[in-house]
Amino acid sequence: MLQKELIKKINELKTEKKAVILAHYYQVSEIQDIADYVGDSLQLSQQAAATNAEIIVFAGVHFMAETAKILSPDKKVLLPDLEAGCSLADSAPKDKFSEFVAKYPDHKVISYINCTADVKALSDVIVTSSNAMKIVESFPKDQLLIFGPDKNLGAYINGKTGRNMLLWDGACEVHETISTERIIDLKLKNPDAILVAHPECKAPVLIMADFVGSTAAMLNFTHSSPAKKFIVATETGIIHQMQKLSPEKEFLVVPSDETCSCNDCPYMKLNTLEKLYLCMLNETPEISLSPDLMDKARKPIVKMLELSKNI
Ligand code: 13P
Ligand code: SF4
Repeated sequence: MLQKELIKKINELKTEKKAVILAHYYQVSEIQDIADYVGDSLQLSQQAAATNAEIIVFAGVHFMAETAKILSPDKKVLLPDLEAGCSLADSAPKDKFSEFVAKYPDHKVISYINCTADVKALSDVIVTSSNAMKIVESFPKDQLLIFGPDKNLGAYINGKTGRNMLLWDGACEVHETISTERIIDLKLKNPDAILVAHPECKAPVLIMADFVGSTAAMLNFTHSSPAKKFIVATETGIIHQMQKLSPEKEFLVVPSDETCSCNDCPYMKLNTLEKLYLCMLNETPEISLSPDLMDKARKPIVKMLELSKNI
C-alpha cells in the first residue's frame, strides 16, 4: 500500500475505533506526523493516564506500552511490534534485580521508567529523565537509595546532587555507543555548535555537553536557544521535531564509533506505518498483564505522576 493510502486508512481507523496514537520522539518521522501526541516518556505516561480514547496505540517500545496499560487497565493497549523491547529494560531481569534490592532492606528503590512491569513492582517510585533529579531530591538527604537500571543516569544524578545512590549496572546500547571521539571531531569542525545530550550517555559525553536533558527538554532547549547549530547526542528520531520546530537551525547527529555508523534505536525503529495500520485493523498485538502485577506496578508510577505535576 502506498504511504498516502496507509495514512488515510490509519486516520479512518482512528475515528472508527475511538483510538489515540501516542508516539515517542524516537519513532520514524511518518509515525510522529500521524500521531495524536508525540512526547517523551513522562509526557506519554501523562497522556496515557488522561486519555478518553477506547484504544491506546503506542508507537514506542514495550515498557512504554506496558506503563500505558498499567495506568489505563480498562483500555485496550496496542503495540505495533511486540519485539520492540529496550536493551536498558532487558539489563534488569526481575530475579536478579529482586536479589539485589533484597540485600539492601534499608534502601528505597528508585527505578527509571525504562524497566519491566516486574521491576516497577519492586520499586518505591519511578522516574523519567525529565523528573529524576527532582524526585531523587524529594527524599531526605540521609535516606539510603538504590537507583536502577541506568547506571549512566544514576551516576549523573549522584554527581549533580551529591547523593551516593547504589547503582544497578545497566545501560542503553544506543546511548552507550555515542562516541566522544566523533563529538570532538564534530566540535573541531563546527566550533559554533552547542552540544546537547541525553543523560543515558556515558559520563565523558555528559561532561562535554552544554545541555543535558530528556528528549522533550533537549527539544525545548534547541528551540529557545539563540544558537544556530547543535550537535545532538541521542537517538536520531528527535531531529525530526527539532528541525520542525526550528527550521532555520542546523542539527548534527553524533555518529557512533567505527563499528557502528548509526545511533538509531533498533527497537524503536521496528515500528513502521504499515505495522501501525495492521495493528489498528486487527487490534493486535495487545499488551496484557495480570491485575495483581498491574496493581503493584501502578503505585510507584502514580507516585511519580503526583511528584511531577509541575514539570
Ligand atoms: P525520554 O524520557 O527522554 O524520552 O527517553 C526515553 C528513552 O528511551 C531514551 O532512550
Ligand atoms: Fe531503550 Fe535505548 Fe532504545 Fe531508549 S534508545 S528505548 S533506552 S534501547
